[in-house]
Amino acid sequence: MAILEVDNLKAYYVTQTFGRSSTVRAVDGVSFHVNKNEIYGIAGESGCGKSTLLKAISGLVKPPLQILGGEIRYNFADQQLNILDLKDEKQRRRLRGARISLIPQGSMSVLNPVRRIKKSFEDVIYAHLDVSEGEFEELVKNHLEALGLDWTVMHTYPHQLSGGMRQRVTIALSTILRPEIIFADEPTTALDVVVQRGVIQLIKKIKEEQQNTLILVTHDMSVHATLCDRLAVMYAGEIVEEGDVKSLFGSPKHPYTSMLLSSLPKIGDKSARVSAPGAPPSLANPPAGCRFHPRCPYAVDRCRQETPALRQLNETHRVACFLQEAGSMELQGRAANEQ
Ligand SMILES: Nc1ncnc2c1ncn2[C@@H]1O[C@H](COP(=O)(O)OP(=O)(O)OP(=O)(O)O)[C@@H](O)[C@H]1O
Ligand SMILES: [Mg+2]
Repeated sequence: MAILEVDNLKAYYVTQTFGRSSTVRAVDGVSFHVNKNEIYGIAGESGCGKSTLLKAISGLVKPPLQILGGEIRYNFADQQLNILDLKDEKQRRRLRGARISLIPQGSMSVLNPVRRIKKSFEDVIYAHLDVSEGEFEELVKNHLEALGLDWTVMHTYPHQLSGGMRQRVTIALSTILRPEIIFADEPTTALDVVVQRGVIQLIKKIKEEQQNTLILVTHDMSVHATLCDRLAVMYAGEIVEEGDVKSLFGSPKHPYTSMLLSSLPKIGDKSARVSAPGAPPSLANPPAGCRFHPRCPYAVDRCRQETPALRQLNETHRVACFLQEAGSMELQGRAANEQ
């Protein structure tokens, strides 16, 4: 059962500078669904539109970001709604925090730097629940305890905490209302590896305890491999491949996914890791045809002219690449020879 269905979503940044208008097609025709209780990952290099996608589906859309098309449907336990029907920011805010929760990129943006942590918890809880001070304390204490955090953290200021602790507190704050679906944007980026592991464990623990759904955005493929059930790979504002983690890591079908995976260290392999050549294109003026073609070792004329659709390969795997289309045996042969 899908808790979230996104259809042909287009979210663009439309700006005016000195009378010239510019459109950055950050999310450009994205369709996917997320099942109840699963961990759905979104991967891709910097600037591919991952954060914009999360903003759009959590209703955090303000200028210059605009939704130019598509649908975002939620199937909550007792209610179905299309978030784009909510015209009022008040309604969207009520939804966020209570039913859907976004842990944004960069934890400092959630915690108020000049106020103690307790104040941030008060702001969130009193905005959604009618509770007494005693009930507030009990709710927060139980939640912190379940996450292995101490109540004393409530009396500190954000800058007094380490990066890892601050991220834990942000996660605690974002999940205190037991949302049905959580969006985490790069929750482990900028943390050292040991602290990262702790934060991953924390996210797992919350998911198990609260039985909710999680969408996890990170460019770190090893985090996806550890945590996710299914994974979508974004490139230049589009999903280019989606599949269950096992088949996607075991047998990637899109050359871009292979490129991302080749940067991962492998046991026993002592050769130096090579970074992917080139960089994602500007989304104000993306290349024609397949947006990956300028970096693709297998690109042919067709890739420069036509845009490959995201096609279902089998029950669990989708890919947008002519290489995988029936009839392109010649291309597949070439790809196999070159590997
Ligand atoms: N406020 C803005 N105005 C104009 N363009 C923007 C704005 N915010 C983001 N963009 C552009 O939208 C595109 C997608 O950005 P987004 O932040 O969604 O990428 P991302 O995949 O989350 O990258 P990262 O991994 O660096 O967080 C980029 O080209 C970015 O420059
Ligand atoms: Mg981002």
